[in-house]
Amino acid sequence: MRILVTGGTGYIGSHACIELLDAGYNVVVLDNLSNSKLESLTRVQLITSRSLDFVLADLQDYDSVRELFSQYKIDAVIHFAGLKAVSESVNNPLLYYTNNLTSTFILCRVMSEFNVKKIVFSSSANVYGAPVSLPVNEQAILNAHNPYGKTKVIIEQFLSDLFIADNAWKIVILRYFNPIGAHSSGLIGESPTSVPNNLLPYISQVAIGKQNVLPIFGNDYPTPDRTCIRDYIHVVDLAKGHTMALDYIFNERDTSKLKMTSINLGTGKGYSVLEVIKAFEEACGFPVPYQFVERRLGDISEIYCDPSLAQQLLGWKATFGIEEMCKDAWKWQIENPNGFDD
Ligand code: NAD
Ligand code: WQD
Repeated sequence: MRILVTGGTGYIGSHACIELLDAGYNVVVLDNLSNSKLESLTRVQLITSRSLDFVLADLQDYDSVRELFSQYKIDAVIHFAGLKAVSESVNNPLLYYTNNLTSTFILCRVMSEFNVKKIVFSSSANVYGAPVSLPVNEQAILNAHNPYGKTKVIIEQFLSDLFIADNAWKIVILRYFNPIGAHSSGLIGESPTSVPNNLLPYISQVAIGKQNVLPIFGNDYPTPDRTCIRDYIHVVDLAKGHTMALDYIFNERDTSKLKMTSINLGTGKGYSVLEVIKAFEEACGFPVPYQFVERRLGDISEIYCDPSLAQQLLGWKATFGIEEMCKDAWKWQIENPNGFDD
């Protein structure tokens, strides 16, 4: 079986490629390298001792995508490609709506033309906005507050309409909570191209001396230690969720049970910013300087998921705790201070 992995040179996609290759799938990656380096795939091949194919292309380019499908017989697609920075999406909605939506429409159009109708899509906890109750399950109202999250909601609705029109589509939407950590080899991980937006890469860069101090956005939230709470999930657990979603799509015998499904991938446990810093300090062995600053616009106080549907449908459950997440994030950072540029 050959899987097309869009965005496969990126942070989560590269970890998913390892799981796919280890599970025996053949892999073709399509990426425009707008937010990633090809070196990630060299390392994926080193880790797995298997080779994969890479196609440099933009998913918004219909002809290139068609050419890929003519060249390779694809059995299913995992669609990671997209832009993902919330603040950038607020400043440049046109870029986000154009890139994320056009890419998905063109991908699905070509898939349809080649009668490839199995897809796993990367959605986000961002679709929930500020949840009304916790833990948040998949029935919660979708209420994204920013252009990035809205592109995910629109794509989920678009995929749902595809399925309603044609039940031959097998679609699994995975809503990731906060992916952190890195592969335990220390060979691949998150490699931000500029000052990090997200908590873990920022803490790592303070620990390695690339940033002076971690700004903690707000210490006046209604949580036990007054900092925000999130459901952090090890990127390797997340990657395994994708092979299990493919297994589900390929192996479900009773096809009446195989509906288009949105599934949370998280641990179900929330950690505050201060608790994450503490876990990271234990991993690196020294204190990480931080200072409290104003709240970040758009941040919600607390979110963590109900992950039971993933267990029920995919047999998936997170296995790594916050200690391993921080240990692996630190190993990646210390062994690759400049990410894939080293
Ligand atoms: P990433 O930026 O590391 O990877 C995305 C990849 O897509 C990059 O390699 C980029 O070059 C590529 N890409 C973007 N637009 C493209 C286009 N038009 N054509 C071809 N390639 C294109 O991001 P990631 O963290 O690995 O995220 C993967 C997916 O998961 C994204 O869809 C993201 O929205 C989603 N997601 C990420 C997080 C997170 O916190 N990292 C959380 C929830 C959901
Ligand atoms: C986590 C916590 C910050 C940086 C985002 C997207 C979400 C998903 C994951 C894509 C918050 C605090 C952060 C810093 C801090 N991505 N923080 N100082 O905002 O929960 O989720 O990434 O889909 O959709 O919204 O993640 O890592 O940015 O923040 O205090 O320098 O850390 O305020 O409480 P977030 P994050």
